[in-house]
Amino acid sequence: MMNQWIICLILKILFELCAGTSISVVPGSKLELPCFAFPTDFSEEHITWKFNDEDIISSDSVEITGTHLSIYPVSNAHEGKYVCSARDPFLDTERRRSYSVSVTNLVRYTVVVREGASARLPCNYQSDHQIRGNAEWFKLTLMKNKKLLTHRNGTVSKDGRAVLLFDMDQDQTMSLNEVTMTDEGKYNCISTDGSTLSTVELVVMSAPTLPPHSCDGFTDPWEECEGDNENSRVTGPVLRESVTEFSFKLYSIFGESQQHKNLLYSPLSITGALTHLLLGSRNITRAALEGALFLPPRFHCVHSEMKRLREKLSGSLQMASQIFYNTESNLTTSFVKQSGEYYDSEPVKLKEDSLENVHMINSWVANKTKNKITELVKDVSQQTKLMLLNAVSFNGLWTIKFDEKPSKGYFTKLDGDMIKVPTLRNDDFQGSMVFVPELKAQVMRFELTGNNSLYILLPQSHKASDLQQVESRLTDSAVHQMINQIREAAPQRIQVTLPQIKLNTEQDMNVMIKKLGLFSLYESPNLCGLYAEEPLVLEEAKHKAFLSLTEQGVEAAAVTAMGFSRSHLSFSALRPFLLLLWSDSAQVPLFIGRVLEP
Ligand SMILES: *[C@@H]1O[C@H](CO)[C@@H](O)[C@H](O)[C@H]1NC(C)=O
Ligand SMILES: *[C@@H]1O[C@H](CO)[C@@H](O)[C@H](O)[C@H]1NC(C)=O
Ligand SMILES: *[C@@H]1O[C@H](CO)[C@@H](O)[C@H](O)[C@H]1NC(C)=O
Ligand SMILES: *[C@@H]1O[C@H](CO)[C@@H](O)[C@H](O)[C@H]1NC(C)=O
Ligand SMILES: *[C@@H]1O[C@H](CO)[C@@H](O)[C@H](O)[C@H]1NC(C)=O
Repeated sequence: MMNQWIICLILKILFELCAGTSISVVPGSKLELPCFAFPTDFSEEHITWKFNDEDIISSDSVEITGTHLSIYPVSNAHEGKYVCSARDPFLDTERRRSYSVSVTNLVRYTVVVREGASARLPCNYQSDHQIRGNAEWFKLTLMKNKKLLTHRNGTVSKDGRAVLLFDMDQDQTMSLNEVTMTDEGKYNCISTDGSTLSTVELVVMSAPTLPPHSCDGFTDPWEECEGDNENSRVTGPVLRESVTEFSFKLYSIFGESQQHKNLLYSPLSITGALTHLLLGSRNITRAALEGALFLPPRFHCVHSEMKRLREKLSGSLQMASQIFYNTESNLTTSFVKQSGEYYDSEPVKLKEDSLENVHMINSWVANKTKNKITELVKDVSQQTKLMLLNAVSFNGLWTIKFDEKPSKGYFTKLDGDMIKVPTLRNDDFQGSMVFVPELKAQVMRFELTGNNSLYILLPQSHKASDLQQVESRLTDSAVHQMINQIREAAPQRIQVTLPQIKLNTEQDMNVMIKKLGLFSLYESPNLCGLYAEEPLVLEEAKHKAFLSLTEQGVEAAAVTAMGFSRSHLSFSALRPFLLLLWSDSAQVPLFIGRVLEP
């Protein structure tokens, strides 16, 4: 009996020794294998590590530090068995610990969701993966795996419930809406090369009996900004910093989701629309919007500061807000009153007729953008309860003019192709130009009337990799350094060539809103401050922008230019570049853009 017990014990120990610990990791991750499960005073010299029975030598990706082995970045070559041996020189014994490491792209998730809600099933390509988008989602069933959505069929399943959130993106997360009990099971996300990127176990819990829609407790008006005037020296910079940080965050979202295309947006207009919505948001929706806008939580003064900013800029940039709403819905009186107070907007009722509404909305947009944008909506559905609009219009004249006579130059595109474009030239421009190391870009400042500047950020070559270098460094702190550096630079005589530009762009605000973590706007936002009668959800979001550069100056809704020379100092923006229209007085960006093809 006793012997048997000892054999069992020995077998158990042997088994543990042979099997070791199994670890599964994704490529590119960092792996730390400790030799001991507890702190010890074993010194490094008495420890040896073996990989598949060979001694390990430190390399770029494998390093032995103290009693740990670290591997970074993990690749398929690191798959195998790792054994650590620690020799005790006094007792002359040896202890071993082994790991069996497998490397797989596959990530497993379990998602638990309530019946009727939306489930997000995660799937991501590795960041160094060349492929973007095109992953396929399958539901695994006993008989045959059922394909849910493919790109050939668009990104929505037949029944419309499964939707790919970010289409041509590394993030191939699928949203499955109105989940039912029969959706429970295993789902696979498969890359075009056949490898499985993630498997998700979906667990559906029975729905709680939802309380009926209620705005009880959430209908108080937005709090006043206490001590408004004396506070403004503090609260002004808070808003400015939030706006700037948000502005550059938007660049990374838009730049990523539409690679190889011209880009232009007005961060101020997007901010204005979102803060106006914030005025009517309560509870978690308010917190989500504040977070997305980089505002401090419960920043009461956001609306009075937005008003102040709008007034400060009004000499060169005019901002207008408007709300159109369905006649059957009654907006809360406090929201209507505060919209007027802070956003100078008086809500307007929609008409019965869709065409009339299209005309009314587009006319408002055309009027507020000085006819630069004339067609925003094509139809207004009967379902539309409410439409919130923000329009900006900018006009600035160069303080140093360009030649009136037309000229042409060759713009080199990302792929190296050259196209002939009309240009703006000044062979004797007095201006400031610097190389900004933080941005890896040659930057030139063009002064405009009304205390504004246009900055052109020229990457080191026309190549996509150089453009991406600049884009990835474009942050609020790098831009402030750029502005300071250029302010201190002595003006020089520069031969300038800029392409004449007329940009007309439309950004996908839906992707932006999701990437800002504002999913709830599409699902169940709390907009009780605005409209308390029934729940509202976001249907569609758009951003269009226009910018033109002419001999006289910049007209925006937004645009760009450059020059080139041989013997003189020159600044020629006849290749892809970034542009930044900046308010020098309010110190916030007005328009941000990228020109790949004028
Ligand atoms: C995708 O589209 C093709 C042709 O349009 C159709 O035959 C096929 O059934 C569709 N597949 C799914 C999963 O909807
Ligand atoms: C939302 O409202 C609930 C109930 O009134 C409250 O407990 C919760 O703290 C609120 N959350 C936020 C972020 O305001
Ligand atoms: C809106 O208000 C009017 C009058 O105050 C009222 O008759 C109507 O029922 C309200 N609409 C809704 C949808 O509650
Ligand atoms: C916009 O509307 C106002 C008021 O109706 C009018 O005075 C102004 O001229 C219009 N602007 C444009 C550009 O149409
Ligand atoms: C321009 O803005 C700067 C920074 O706020 C300010 O110091 C300066 O007085 C302004 N100039 C004019 C002409 O408004």
